[in-house]
Order: sequence, then structure tokens, then C-alpha cells
Amino acid sequence: MRIGLIGAGAVADLHAAAAEALSGLRLTAVCDLVEAAAGRVAGPAGAAVFTDYRDLIDSGLVDAVIVNTPHGLHRQMVTDAAQRGLHVLVEKPMATTLADCDAMRDACHAADVTLVVGHIQHFLPEKVAVQSLLADGGHGPVVMIHDYRTTDYRPTTRSAWFFSPQMAGGGALMNIGAHCLDRSTWLGGAPAEQITAATARRFGVAVETDGALRLRLANGVPVSISVVSDTPHKADDLTIVCERAVITASPRLGVHVQQDGRTRQIRKRRPSDIPDAFRAQLSDFAATVDGRPARVSIEHARHVVELVLAAYRSAELRETVAVRPTATHAAA
Ligand SMILES: NC(=O)c1ccc[n+]([C@@H]2O[C@H](COP(=O)([O-])OP(=O)(O)OC[C@H]3O[C@@H](n4cnc5c(N)ncnc54)[C@H](O)[C@@H]3O)[C@@H](O)[C@H]2O)c1
Repeated sequence: MRIGLIGAGAVADLHAAAAEALSGLRLTAVCDLVEAAAGRVAGPAGAAVFTDYRDLIDSGLVDAVIVNTPHGLHRQMVTDAAQRGLHVLVEKPMATTLADCDAMRDACHAADVTLVVGHIQHFLPEKVAVQSLLADGGHGPVVMIHDYRTTDYRPTTRSAWFFSPQMAGGGALMNIGAHCLDRSTWLGGAPAEQITAATARRFGVAVETDGALRLRLANGVPVSISVVSDTPHKADDLTIVCERAVITASPRLGVHVQQDGRTRQIRKRRPSDIPDAFRAQLSDFAATVDGRPARVSIEHARHVVELVLAAYRSAELRETVAVRPTATHAAA
């Protein structure tokens, strides 16, 4: 499968390296508005360089694209690629509105091409290890989840589009909170049915820089999520309280289980964890193109966007907001 990469920003090298590492896949084209950025990522693979994504998707050089651009561009790029018969892996969050999510899903369905959203959490080795522990069931059911992630939304710390409500669809919650909502609902075992949120907007930027969320999942599991900007210490700490043990996971510290006052380390961090996750994600995408079910469903990716938008509503109204599970969720 010949892969075209649209957007040569922060994680482009990881996508490109994954495409080059997997057998049966090749990176054949890269597009970025900034030609030098596209050229830098395309270079090692000898891939063609474009500065207009429409030229890339019309080039006949690719069978699939990875859409790795600002959130507000996902819809148009995905629907255009689908109309050219190209399979699509689009970065998280799927889009900035539910109407856009639905248009993307429908366009790919109508064109009979695969659409997968890159929710990397499902491929990070430490999160996969947590999921195996939970599936094993030995620690009893999940009774609550706490998720704390730091970030930095001071101006100039990231590309300007992240501070545009229109282009980014929101701030720290749409970007980083999306990872927390994804992994909490995935590992918590059910979609959320209600959410209460507060947001803060600091540093004079136009989007929220911090957020605190409380969710109740449809199976009754309570979840609390905090995303905080510009902190003294960086953190990416997931705590899952089960009936008979507490599991913690962080990319830096690995996975630990606490039971009866004893701590066991289940997994240590490895330097290759992140590249391995991007390879596993792309491999899953290729398998999905071959007809296997994707590890992350479109319903799940859409639900993440639904929850971020519900959080914004809750913060604005200062009240708890109900989220009605879709028919697919209800059946699952
Ligand atoms: N999975 C993860 O862990 C992870 C990490 C970082 C970013 N992301 C996601 O990746 C996407 C991109 O974010 P980023 O951090 O790489 O942003 P970025 O600003 O670093 O890169 C975006 C790139 O897109 C290019 N671009 C903008 N408009 C374009 C257009 N019309 N045509 C072609 N190229 C265009 C920009 O020039 C820039 O190089 C977002 O959806 C983001 O949420 C995911």
C-alpha cells in the first residue's frame, strides 16, 4: 500500500518511519504548505513532495493517506481523499464538530474506503499492558478512574493554529483532553453518559488552557480528568482503581499494580515505546483496509469529540450535561 502523508508537523516523522518500517507499505508522497517541511519528511523515503494536498491525492502515487493536519482541516481532506478512492487514517481528534465526523464517516462509507482515526493510546505499550491486566479480570472490575495530564498552552509554545477556536475546535481539552477521554472510556469499558466540566483560559489566548472533567460511564464507573498547562512537573498519569488492586500507568514510569500494600512493576518504559505504537497503529490501519475490524471504531472516535463538545457546554452552562449513548454504543 502506497502511503501519502498530509501535514509534516510534530508527529510526521513517526508516521513516516512507521510506513517505511512495515512490510507491504511504502511512503510515496508527503504534502505540507511548507515545502521544506514536506521535503525533510519525504527525504529518507525518496517520496514525492507536494504543497497542495489536492495534487497529492490526484497524483496516482498513493493508495491511502494519513491526514496529520490542524483539526479544522480534517473533514475536507478526508472527504476529498475518499472521493478519490483513497483509504484514510486521520489523526485525533476526528474533527471539531459532530456534523464533520458524520460527513467523514458517510463519505468513506459511500466511497467504500476505510476510515480509521489515529487514537494512539490504544497502541502505546503501557496502555495495552493495562488493557491486558483488565481483560484478565484478576483484580476485579474497575470502580473508578483518575487521569492527570499536563501540557503547555502558553502562546508560542506550539503552532499558532492550536490557539484558533475555528481551526483547533478548542484548546487543551480538544487536543490533550481527547487522549484522556479516549483512554478513560476505552479502559473504563463503556461510553460516558454524563459529564461535568470546568475550564480556564489563561495566558491571554483564545482557547481553554486547562480543564477539569467529571464523567459517569454508562456502566456506572466515575472518571475524573484534569488537564493543566505550564506546571512545575510534567505528568501523564492514569490511575485505575479496581475492586482488588490499583493500577497506574505512565509513559515515563511504566505500569504498576498495588495490591494488599505490595507494589509490582508490570512494565518498564522502553525508548522504542512511541515509535512502536505508531507502527502498531499503522499496521492496524493496513489490516483494517484488508477487511479486519479496526481496533478503534469510528463510533468511539466520534464519541470522544462528542464528549469534548459536551464538556464545553457543561463549562459554559455550569451544569452537568447528559450524553445520550448512540444506538451502536447501547447495543455494545
Ligand atoms: N497522536 C498523537 O500523539 C499526536 C501528537 C501530536 C499531534 N497530533 C495530531 O496531529 C495533527 C497535527 O498536529 P501537529 O502537532 O502535527 O501540528 P503541527 O502544527 O506541528 O503540524 C501541522 C502541519 O500541517 C501543515 N498544514 C497546515 N495546513 C495544511 C494544508 N492545508 N495542507 C498541507 N499541510 C498543512 C502545517 O504546515 C504543519 O506543518 C492534529 O490532529 C493533532 O491533534 C497527534
